[in-house]
This record gives sequence, structure tokens and C-alpha cells, in this order.
Amino acid sequence: MNDNRSDPQANLHLDGKNFRLEMVAGSMGDRAVHLGKLRSETGCMAFDPGMANTAICRSAITFVDGEKGVLLHRGYAIADLVEHCSFIEVAYLLIHGTLPTLEQQQQFSRLLNIHSMLHEDMRSFFGNYPEGAHPMAVLSAMVVSLSSFYPELRLETGKEEMNITVTRLLSKLRTIAAFSYKKSIGEPFVYPSYKFSYCENFLNMMFSSPVSHYRADAYDVAIMNKLLILHADHEQNASTTAVRMVGSTGANLYACISAGICALWGALHGGANQAVVEMLERIQQQGLTVDQVVTMAKDHNDPFRLMGFGHRIYKSYDPRAKIAKQLCMAVLQKKKPNDPLVATALALEERALQDSYFQDRRLYPNVDFYTGLIYRALGFPKEMFTVLFALGRLPGWIAHWQEMHQDPEQKIMRPRQLYTGPGPLPFVPIEERS
Ligand code: ACO
Repeated sequence: MNDNRSDPQANLHLDGKNFRLEMVAGSMGDRAVHLGKLRSETGCMAFDPGMANTAICRSAITFVDGEKGVLLHRGYAIADLVEHCSFIEVAYLLIHGTLPTLEQQQQFSRLLNIHSMLHEDMRSFFGNYPEGAHPMAVLSAMVVSLSSFYPELRLETGKEEMNITVTRLLSKLRTIAAFSYKKSIGEPFVYPSYKFSYCENFLNMMFSSPVSHYRADAYDVAIMNKLLILHADHEQNASTTAVRMVGSTGANLYACISAGICALWGALHGGANQAVVEMLERIQQQGLTVDQVVTMAKDHNDPFRLMGFGHRIYKSYDPRAKIAKQLCMAVLQKKKPNDPLVATALALEERALQDSYFQDRRLYPNVDFYTGLIYRALGFPKEMFTVLFALGRLPGWIAHWQEMHQDPEQKIMRPRQLYTGPGPLPFVPIEERS
């Protein structure tokens, strides 16, 4: 296949024939060859394991330039959003497309407070999970259960009803997340309060208890806001694609978000923040040197990978990781100045970045490398780290779900395969099988 940058079409030479394929481009970044008619016109499919070269949609939500380490949400740089906005403002930006006015922000916060309670009947569900249940399992199951308690969002729903469903989900996910933690430690649930902001409310539900007074520290609230913003969206990552994939079948919003939560849980995706801290603990406990760890990570016969390193898109430093590292240093200095895990993380990063294996493959720390250490310093247990990622990513998932349903090019997502199994076989009756 060849194409000329000014040519709106690409040429594909196949079986002695020439096919002209349309070129498509976004407002910034990569262009693509439109393969919509590839199979019907050429009899051939595209083979792209891991969809590494496939744009599955057009999207106006988030722009990533992985070569230059650029991340924009609705056009705004991630560093500016982290510095100047609350998480709620960024959630509004992603979902509605513009930064809110003061009035819009107040209205949004008010709606979030109104919808923060869970249906009382859902409380009993928490009691039926076994001790030690991972909060991600509880979170995904509870979110899909919301669809049986709250009217299903129909696609033809009006704007007002859509806003309510969206705020309901944003608000209730936070309550479910905190309740799942309380359940895991056997403490009574703490209800949300209209008195608090979004992150303050969450910290209060997490850490307040009947026997100890807790008032969220303004510093912790500010850090929580920044961390959630860092995770708010990242275009067509695995969990967002899961949301779009399930949404493409017409499933309701709750079901789609539950699928996104499950996809996020994996250690190669959002589960990496928990895996990073477990890796650092293992290094400490086993007295491994950073050289040994890097050697293990480079050995393809060893399943071990340097968790929190590498990214499908970023081939330079992940801009979120840069911000997370700065936050980590500031938070740790204030809260846990002698945390040995931080020293190990810094030494590991430095060692890996000097190694030709990581340099040649352009593997840098990703957002998950330092965030777990920050959550830990704020008092969150490891099992909650990916739940916090999910809380941050929710506005992105919702924005993509909405965008998908407004997209005239949207179809059910149904990829194809290259079959590698046996050919047609004569049927063998059970008594003749050996
Ligand atoms: N440690 C050691 N080697 C690695 C790592 C790593 N963390 N990441 C990639 N590599 C190597 C691969 O072994 C491969 O080597 P090869 O070319 O010799 O076969 C090469 O780098 C390319 O790696 P792929 O797995 O093909 O890259 P891909 O884009 O498919 O995977 C991923 C990206 C999953 C993030 C990968 O880098 C990884 O497993 N990282 C560790 C888990 C992690 O931190 N995940 C969080 C990602 S960020 C997020 O989801 C929010």
C-alpha cells in the first residue's frame, strides 16, 4: 500500500488489481486508511492483533500524541486541568464538552449531592460478599445492579433525564466505592453528606467512623482532585473500548460502565497501580537489587514485567506520570518522608531508563508507576487503588458512551478473525471415539 500525504486516497495492490481506499483524518494527529469497504471490495480483511493500528471511531473528547507526550481533554492540556480545576469541573468538561460556568458548576455539584445516596435495599448486597472480596468485584457488580434500581436510560431520553442518570452514576459510584471499602474492613457504612464537596465526601465516607472524629484535610482533598483528574480519560484505552463495545450492542449505561470496570481491573491496565506497589513491596521483602529486578523484567522467559512501565501509545514520558511523580514527591515529603518504597521506585526508574532494553523499546513510567504510592500515603489500602482509578475514569467512560450514541457512523462492534482450527471433519459417533 502506498499513499501520498496530499492524496485523499491510498492505493492497495492485491492479486494484480489496484484498489483505491479513502483516507480519513482528524483535526490533529494521525490519519487513517478507511477500511469500511475493504472486505466487500477486495475480499480481504485487516489483521491487527490488539487493534494497535486501528482507529475504532472519530472522537472529540481526548487527544493524545504519544511521541511528544501530549494529552488534551476537549483541547485543554492535562497539566492546566490538574493545576486549576476540581475533578468535578473536568468531569463536566468531558461530559458536556466545555468547562462549566460558576453557575453550571454549582448546579452540577448540587445534583451530585442530591443523587449520592444508594437505594437502601442495595446495602444488603454488600453483606453477602465474602470477607476479602476484592472491591473491584464489588464495584462492578454493584454498578450493574444499579440498572435494576434506577430506570434504564433509553437512548431517546431527553437531555434532562440524561443529566440525571449521568450525575446519579458519578455520585453513586463514589458511594459504592466507599461502602465496598467499609465492608472489607467490617466497619459500618458512612453516608454521603450534602455538606461536602465531591472528593471531601468520598474521603469522609472512607475514613470517618463512629468512634473517631474525621475531617478531611484540605490538602488531601486537593490531592484527591488532582489524582482523579489525572485518570479522567485517555481516549480508546482497553476499558473505554470495553464500554464502547458493550454500548454498541445497545446495553444500558450501567452495564457498559460495569464492563469498563472489569476491563480496568487487569494488571496490564488500571490494576497496574496495585501491582506496582506489590512489586515494590516484594523487592523490599526479598532484598532484591534494582539490577536484579531489571534483569528479570528483560528476561522473556520470566513472566515478570516492570509494572507501571510501558504504554501502547506513549513512546516518550507519559505526561500523567510526570505530574504523578511530582505529586508523589510532594505528598510523601509531607506525609511519609522516609517511605522506603519511594526510594526503591526512584532507583528502579533511574536504572530502567538507563538500560538499552527500555530505551530501545521506548518504555517509560506510565501513570500507574507513582499513583499507588500517593494513595498509600493518603491511607488507602492497595485493593482500593484500582477502584480510585475507576472513580477518576468514570466521566471519560460516560463521555465516550454518549459520544458513541450520537455518532452516525456507529455500528455494533463485531470484529472478525483468521480461523486456525481444523477443517470440516466427518462426524464421529460417541461409541467410535477413542
Ligand atoms: N517490562 C518489561 N518489558 C516490557 C514492559 C515492561 N513493563 N512493557 C513492554 N515490554 C516489552 C515487551 O516484552 C516487548 O518486548 P519485545 O519487543 O522484545 O517482545 C516490548 O516491550 C513491547 O511490549 P508490548 O507488550 O508489545 O507492548 P504493548 O503496547 O502491547 O503493551 C503494556 C503495553 C501492556 C502497557 C505493557 O507495556 C505492559 O505490560 N506494562 C506493564 C503493565 C502496566 O504498567 N500497565 C499499565 C499501563 S497504563 C494504563 O493502563 C493506565
